[in-house]
Amino acid sequence: MGEPLQARPAGAAPDWTIDQGWEHYTPAEHALWDHLFARQAAMLRGRAAPEFLAGLDVLRMDRPGIPNFADLSDRLMGLTGWQVVAVPGLVPDEVFFAHLAERRFVAGNFIRTPDQIDYLQEPDVFHDVFGHVPLLANPVFADYMQAYGAGGLRAGGLGVTAMLARLYWYTVEFGLIARDGALQIYGAGIVSSYGESRYALEDPAPNRIGFDLRRLMRTHYKIDAYQQTYFVIDSFEDLLRQTLETDFGPLYAELADTPEYAPDAVLPSDRVYNRGQAAHPSPSSPG
Ligand code: PHE
Ligand code: FE
Repeated sequence: MGEPLQARPAGAAPDWTIDQGWEHYTPAEHALWDHLFARQAAMLRGRAAPEFLAGLDVLRMDRPGIPNFADLSDRLMGLTGWQVVAVPGLVPDEVFFAHLAERRFVAGNFIRTPDQIDYLQEPDVFHDVFGHVPLLANPVFADYMQAYGAGGLRAGGLGVTAMLARLYWYTVEFGLIARDGALQIYGAGIVSSYGESRYALEDPAPNRIGFDLRRLMRTHYKIDAYQQTYFVIDSFEDLLRQTLETDFGPLYAELADTPEYAPDAVLPSDRVYNRGQAAHPSPSSPG
């Protein structure tokens, strides 16, 4: 999600989409994707939610090279009715929300440079496609993303996008899920990051706290470091049910009058899986 007063780049359509330009990727760029893919595929075995891994599989994302969005969209369309469309970089919030509400995921078409393997500011095609697209093959998560887009358009009109953005951040980007007593990762910002894949699950430093919609929407986050708190959902069905059932209109009004929480806060009411140990400083390298 981007800045409110951005100018649309020349060459982008009114909905900000561009041609992916797949034929313009160099062999070195495809090789960089393959390297990142192999490294993450190995890292995620036993760490990522099976729904994510199933998505990689059913979308045949293990094929060599940067995926062609048209092929990916054909497969996704048959599974859940989603498409992947290319954009030049971050787009304004309302553009982003409108695409999601129409079951289109906007992805950057560029790939990081070799010196950015472990750190980059703007999401590239590896983060956007490897990180986000596999779960769009899951019918429940696919519905959640569309509902989030519709909710975003509504929030924009109410001027409360920042509150709703926390929901995206702590689920779509940095969510954990509990399975048979163990935690797994599913957030795109985690699964696309070599360092954070391990940190989010195994490091004693961050808090891991049970998902609580109201609590989460009052919690600030950092964009330039590994997270200090991860929220753990019980299932994708539960996440979808809770967010669909709740009318966010009254919720925004209610939350506007309540305190907000620092990224590392732990509250007496929290369902704590792990209380973060401040003695372990978090490395400053997001993915
Ligand atoms: N139920 C929310 C609303 O009333 C919309 C929403 C659904 C938001 C799912 C996020 C996720 O605005
Ligand atoms: Fe992302």
